[in-house]
Amino acid sequence: MFNRLPEYPWESLKPFAAKAAEYPGGKVDLSVGSPVDPTPQVIQDALDSASNSPGYPSTAGSLEFRQAVVDWFAARRGVAGLDVSQVMPTIGSKELISWLPLLMGLGPGDVVVQPTVAYTAYVVGAALCGAEIISEDDPNLWPANTKLVWLNSPGNPDGRVLSKAELRAAVIRGRELGALVASDECYAELGWGDWEGKTTPCILDPEVSGASTDGVLAVYSLSKQSNMAGYRAAFAAGSASLIKGLVNLRMHSGLNTPEPAQKAMIAALGDHSHVAAQKAIYRARREELLSAVRAYGFEVAASEAGLYLWATLGEDCWKTVERMAELGIVVVPGAFYVLGDSQYVRFSITATDADIAEGARRLREAIDFTK
Ligand SMILES: Cc1ncc(COP(=O)(O)O)c(C=O)c1O
Repeated sequence: MFNRLPEYPWESLKPFAAKAAEYPGGKVDLSVGSPVDPTPQVIQDALDSASNSPGYPSTAGSLEFRQAVVDWFAARRGVAGLDVSQVMPTIGSKELISWLPLLMGLGPGDVVVQPTVAYTAYVVGAALCGAEIISEDDPNLWPANTKLVWLNSPGNPDGRVLSKAELRAAVIRGRELGALVASDECYAELGWGDWEGKTTPCILDPEVSGASTDGVLAVYSLSKQSNMAGYRAAFAAGSASLIKGLVNLRMHSGLNTPEPAQKAMIAALGDHSHVAAQKAIYRARREELLSAVRAYGFEVAASEAGLYLWATLGEDCWKTVERMAELGIVVVPGAFYVLGDSQYVRFSITATDADIAEGARRLREAIDFTK
């Protein structure tokens, strides 16, 4: 019983966090991706005014909520013309990611595909239903018994953005296999460099999925762009029949998003100014940390969008984790995100300005010291 999953991997970081805490001034934790800035007032106000909520919430989502999601896809993601029957709320997106394979009826003999460098919940979903997980980015190599493909763009931890052509190739192959292609896109508003001022490509973009949303699902969360991780505020969109099937199963099993959270999401989706303001805060933190990380000697790969720096010193990730802990900095070993060994670590920019500045200072001081 309860043995389908190993111990939560973050337990293995605790000794390094303890070591980092011994550093004069204490540890700077750049391992966690949890937002630290306040939830914008417009969202808090919407939650406050929705606090009288005696009845059960709609699993499908209130009409007002679903319309807000449809409008947001048109305004922010280049996806016009969705219908309210094509969207549903989720209780944060980790919940959907972890349970989707089971809800789809997958099990032994079925394959779930994930990116070669992947957020940890995709493997959890496969394990919970006994399906096989395969890490493979090349659609041509997805096996015939593939039933679900996870794409993640912009990616966690590597910040890689998939082009429309790459997304399109995945959709075509998924349809060929009869597999659902689910794209986890919660960092879409947080593109840097060439992505500034525009959205990263969405799986539902007609140039990607064609005239139809068959066999595709976009998964989105407001945890990061709106500092709503505590609200469990997220949603998914795809074909009406897929959403109908999922809503039915979710209704049976009590997976419904609280009404006050739906109301708060309506406010968040209708106000872009707080997303832009939060992005400016992350931009400054990212620039400060990125330059210190590079100055220390890290090579930074991808990291063109999202809230992480995916960086390597060309040695085993655990050695780098230890090296950073000696500087009082906690980072995540790349081994958490790949099946096998990794030479990368993940630095998060979801820390306070003070912690980012102190982390950058320690990295720069360490180089001066070794010169
Ligand atoms: C790629 C990716 N997907 C999903 C999630 C989960 O988000 P939520 O807070 O909505 O569960 C995260 C959170 O870190 C993430 O990085």
